[in-house]
Amino acid sequence: MSYTIHKTLANMFILFLIFAGCHAQVENQRIVGGPCEGCEALVEDMPTHLNNSDTLPLFETAAQPLIVSGVVYEHNTRKSAEGVIIYFYHTNEEGIYPSYANDALWARRHGYLRGWTKTAKDGKYKFYTSRPASYPGRQEPAHIHITVKEPNTNPYYIDDILFADDPLLTLERKSQLRQRAGSGVVNPIVDNQGVQHVQRDIYLGSNIPNYD
Ligand SMILES: [Fe+2]
Repeated sequence: MSYTIHKTLANMFILFLIFAGCHAQVENQRIVGGPCEGCEALVEDMPTHLNNSDTLPLFETAAQPLIVSGVVYEHNTRKSAEGVIIYFYHTNEEGIYPSYANDALWARRHGYLRGWTKTAKDGKYKFYTSRPASYPGRQEPAHIHITVKEPNTNPYYIDDILFADDPLLTLERKSQLRQRAGSGVVNPIVDNQGVQHVQRDIYLGSNIPNYD
């Protein structure tokens, strides 16, 4: 066999390995959660190294600092889930998603009050942030959006964090919640520094379309 033919066959074999590898990756990626406008924001500007906690820009200066924590649980086994990315964004104390003029697409729409964490073995995560307000002149309760990405899924959204003491969170609204990854309704507890603490545990796959 000539050198040229040998080299061509070797190149073809390398291309086959690359193709097979890519194909396997797509196959391993489960598509769950149904349509989601903006779930791709999880990867835009995502820091390369993620910890199990993140501090958002207004935590130190906010009139109402807020610490959100929780545990992420695997589907069925209810064991703590490792390697889950949690993307989190919300309005400021005026009910606005504040952004900078030169922000990229999703940073402009979601604002700079956004952050990322990634769970370790214990499944725990924590965000240091500020309590959001409801949209001005509207009846939407104040909320924190959350998108999660498991190692083998696409990003999917889960029920927003909503505050049990929010007068806009009516019984009717509560009855309409879909409980994606469990309930997002939280009860703030105030510590002696005036910081509010809430717990939002995340039950992966619970009420998530196409998960099972
Ligand atoms: Fe919103």
